[in-house]
Amino acid sequence: MEESKLKVVPLGSFQRTRYCGQVNAEDIGKSIRLCGWVDSVRDLGALLFVRLRDREGVIQVVFKSDTDEDLRRRAEGLRSEFVIGISGVVAARTAENVNSQMATGEIEVLAEELLLLNTAETPPFEIGDDTTASEDLRLKYRYLDLRRPVVLKNFRLRHQLSLEVRDYMDQQGFFEIETPFLTKSTPEGARDFLVPSRVHEGCFYALPQSPQIFKQILMISGFDRYFQIVRCFRDEDLRADRQPEFTQIDIEISFPHYDVLFGIIEGMMKRLFRLSGIEVPTPFLRLPYDEVMERFGSDKPDMRFALELCELGAAFQQTSFEAFRRVLDHNGRIKGLRIPGGAQYSRNQIDHWTELVRQNGASGLAWIRSTEGGLRSSLDKVLRPGEAEAVFQAAGGTKDDLLLMVADAKAQKVFDCLNALRLAVGRKEKHAESGRYAFLWVVDFPMFEYHEEDRRFYACHHPFTSPKDEDVAYLTTDPGRVKAKAYDLVLNGTELGGGSIRIHDMQIQKEVFRSLGLTDQETAEKFGFFLEALRYGTPPHGGIALGLDRLVMLLSGEKSIRDVIAFPKTARGTCLMSDSPSAVRDEQLKELHIRLDH
Ligand code: AMO
Repeated sequence: MEESKLKVVPLGSFQRTRYCGQVNAEDIGKSIRLCGWVDSVRDLGALLFVRLRDREGVIQVVFKSDTDEDLRRRAEGLRSEFVIGISGVVAARTAENVNSQMATGEIEVLAEELLLLNTAETPPFEIGDDTTASEDLRLKYRYLDLRRPVVLKNFRLRHQLSLEVRDYMDQQGFFEIETPFLTKSTPEGARDFLVPSRVHEGCFYALPQSPQIFKQILMISGFDRYFQIVRCFRDEDLRADRQPEFTQIDIEISFPHYDVLFGIIEGMMKRLFRLSGIEVPTPFLRLPYDEVMERFGSDKPDMRFALELCELGAAFQQTSFEAFRRVLDHNGRIKGLRIPGGAQYSRNQIDHWTELVRQNGASGLAWIRSTEGGLRSSLDKVLRPGEAEAVFQAAGGTKDDLLLMVADAKAQKVFDCLNALRLAVGRKEKHAESGRYAFLWVVDFPMFEYHEEDRRFYACHHPFTSPKDEDVAYLTTDPGRVKAKAYDLVLNGTELGGGSIRIHDMQIQKEVFRSLGLTDQETAEKFGFFLEALRYGTPPHGGIALGLDRLVMLLSGEKSIRDVIAFPKTARGTCLMSDSPSAVRDEQLKELHIRLDH
């Protein structure tokens, strides 16, 4: 009986001839060899079925008593996730055994040889597409999670997208050039990850938030067209579409025109989406920042649905409603969102939306709805006769519509609330069904934004972005009104990419640093090398960076970029699998001249 015991054996000269998922009806009658993981075992006595899984799919392997009783007995020792090799002959399944749910469901392999290559402990969760395991558990055992076909398919797509990007960029005349990871900090608005230098006591490298300065310098060097699929590092608050390390498709060209640059990106999107069988119409719509804010309340509007905000300031100009009166007196804004056919929404639903705008900082949500008996409004008690009608009309309201209204002294708050409402209504009404892709270029961003807390301007994109030619004169006198040659590529409400035409004139670059409150000395310390480079014949140049993780997320229909990054960090920036970040030995700290303050 010793014969029939299943023991782990070396791989030896055993060589796989096929992947499990690639065997098909044309192979019937052929002898093949497979390697993989046991997905499940079903023992029916005379017959024992093993579902065998590898990267390419799953296939059924049959062990039969009447063909080889000893082999079937040995197969009884198989458990889920054991690693095996089998030899066998491909056979057609009988009609009643065909499994239409399985790609290889018409065939099976009649086993002739079984090699146990390794055993496995019982996994902490079932390795199936519809696992109920928590994300934390899956991330701790990420290697098991990655065995799940639904997860694995995202990495196949990611690989294909990267290949396609490289091929396309090569055809467009771009060189892929690597830029350093140990760098001097370049400001992209987030905190840097710092790396202490052992050799230079008290000095630190910064991991790049993006290769921004280097790619500009490559234009000064004359490379003309650069791209790189590159890892970037930002120590910022994490969300579903943000990771501390993420990948950009980073691009820079010399002598840029919007049409040329946008054309390159649109062509790339066409090629990438075609991989998933999606035809993307080009050119993409272009809208200025001011317009998208007014119409959609966001600089990354989801263009899959047409709901738009409306302006109600004029309609409330003479209002007797004290709260709105005050908002207008303080140069605030009153805007609305008209929901065609929305009059049927319940009070409960409106209460829910009221809570949503409160979370976004508004004091409340006002509404007007059309009913059988005329208009009804949350403001019925405080509006003058006829006022609700005038407002409803100003919003373009017709029978069965609902108008939601938000007022605030701060325009941004009104935009944030109505954007949140617009997205909630759009999703509720299923305007944003999957499989639709609505691209948008947002152009003409403001150059700076003012932060009340530290009473200074910050660059909206980054400080190397060129102001619009006609606004250069206001750089120092009125920075708030300067518009930039900056643009974002937006897809279904997600910012997919951002870029700009750069400053190539050293004087203007210096002025921008001044507008940002940097002294000439600070500028020299941080950017002296770059300002110097600008002196030596800098061509006009510009570029963009696209978030590769976000692109894969949108194309694979996932909700988080964690699902398309092999070893992502949690929302708290930790790796649950390897347990990083972690403490280091005292000697290591000493070598790096670091003393901890505890
Ligand atoms: P920006 O900061 O807009 O521009 O970044 C470009 C794109 O990178 C992606 N992205 C991220 N993805 C995941 N996690 C993050 N933490 C994260 N941060 C950014 C987004 C974003 O649109 N140097 C400039 C580009 C340029 O001007 O050419 C830059 O990095 O998809």
